[in-house]
Amino acid sequence: MDNKIPAVTMRDITKRFGSTLANDKVWLNIYRGEILSLLGENGSGKTTLMNMLSGIYFPDEGEIQIDGKDVVIRSPKDAFDLGIGMIHQHFKLVDVLTAAENIVLGLPGRLDLKAAAQKIREICDAYGFEVDPEQKVYDMSVSQKQTVEIVKVLYRGADILILDEPTAVLTPQEIDKLFAVLRNMRDDGKAIVIITHKMHEVEALSDRVAILRHGQFIGDMPTKKTNAQEMTNMMVGHAVTLNIDRPEPVNPKPRIEVKGLTVRSMDGIIKLDDVSFTAYSGEILGIAGISGCGQKELLEAIAGLQPVEAGSISYIDDNGGREELIGKDPLSIQQMGVALSFVPEDRLGMGLVGNMDIGNNMMLRSYRSGRGIFTNRKAPYKLAHQMVDFLEIATPSVETPVRRLSGGNVQKVLVGREIANAPSVLLTAYAVRGLDINSSYLIYDTINSQKMRGVAVIYVGEDLDVLLELADRILVLCGGKVSGIVPGRGAKKRDVGLMMTKLGGKTDEQ
Ligand SMILES: Nc1ncnc2c1ncn2[C@@H]1O[C@H](COP(=O)(O)OP(=O)(O)O)[C@@H](O)[C@H]1O
Ligand SMILES: [Mg+2]
Repeated sequence: MDNKIPAVTMRDITKRFGSTLANDKVWLNIYRGEILSLLGENGSGKTTLMNMLSGIYFPDEGEIQIDGKDVVIRSPKDAFDLGIGMIHQHFKLVDVLTAAENIVLGLPGRLDLKAAAQKIREICDAYGFEVDPEQKVYDMSVSQKQTVEIVKVLYRGADILILDEPTAVLTPQEIDKLFAVLRNMRDDGKAIVIITHKMHEVEALSDRVAILRHGQFIGDMPTKKTNAQEMTNMMVGHAVTLNIDRPEPVNPKPRIEVKGLTVRSMDGIIKLDDVSFTAYSGEILGIAGISGCGQKELLEAIAGLQPVEAGSISYIDDNGGREELIGKDPLSIQQMGVALSFVPEDRLGMGLVGNMDIGNNMMLRSYRSGRGIFTNRKAPYKLAHQMVDFLEIATPSVETPVRRLSGGNVQKVLVGREIANAPSVLLTAYAVRGLDINSSYLIYDTINSQKMRGVAVIYVGEDLDVLLELADRILVLCGGKVSGIVPGRGAKKRDVGLMMTKLGGKTDEQ
């Protein structure tokens, strides 16, 4: 590989945003016939660096060469003309148009949708994509939209492809499919850059890794010659092993009691089947289960966002007083101190206003909840400052519009806002979705500090290893039924895994 001319050479690339040094004299080579993983914590400058290849930003300093020739990339069109295509974290498709219309959108020349559909099918056949050219974007799953984005850049002749955290929004099965087509494209001689935080993906997919830290290039090496521990050390600058705090619950009391809860989806499918459990104050109850087995419906039912077919959900106050939550509207439930923080697949899609700054997004939340904890405009900004400090949100200021933050930092705002709202019950789903290791720990710390304040936390996550270290008890769902409730301390991954796939585990409740 050493004597091959790189498809892309970036030399001494520097980019500033105000006082933020997003890229600091970065060097990077990208080769054809190779998949390169670009690694780094949230805010380390990965997206910025790639945006300078795709023509979104222009470097303050440094040079770019394509196939050994100096180039100047001033616009996405310049990038396309050089064969560079980028699939962004937040898709840019037009909802009311079909796949084919989106793919040809903005191309010069007469619009021939028939010919376009034919060419799209050829691309799909060549690499193993499944796209229906006639399908409208609003009818598509996240993974289908992503596929359209990829086909779109291939259609325009891209042979240098950049994918910015493509797997953050996909299920494991969809990830396997994506990786298969990426390998096909690599074998076809394309140069591929993928940004991801997930070490097992890096190891499974890429030929080489390059690592950024605080905007600087730290190093690169063949994937075979390194390992997850070494890569993590290079990313964060110090050794990290999974070692999440689990303080003992203090004076736990029943807070939410669920009995015989049954929920059916709109199309009549049973999502929760006779689910019963109690969540205690000062405790983290983890919910384990394979994706789609009822976790989402469970949290939504408690938050009043899901029609319930049968059962009861009682809120129990400190004096043992009970109030039924089923039948209450979501706002009333929120006002009782039940906060739902659900990180959606599309992180910007829900709950934050991209054009507003962090402080205003704080205020928005407290207005909605109607609790009026902010009596003046200074308070939300003070809270915003505390959050920026505590969760180490990388932002020039609390006045920066949220849409300008990197994906992980947007998420810290989203999660931090719900947590800071001081609930008595915290329902949290996918709080660390797509976050790097350090940021994830900050979120675990925040959740733990809420637990120690006496909040009843119900935690839904994707990573079983985390659940086993963080949760006091683990409720395992399988196909909408409770297959068991086990203490988190001492629980074995293998046992919980088995309970996730078949019913009939042990339970510590009557
Ligand atoms: N348009 C922008 N305006 C101001 N700051 C920005 C902008 N884009 C990125 N940044 C800042 O630059 C740094 C690097 O961000 P980014 O490249 O998105 O990181 P990553 O993709 O590695 O998470 C962060 O501190 C981020 O807040
Ligand atoms: Mg990014």
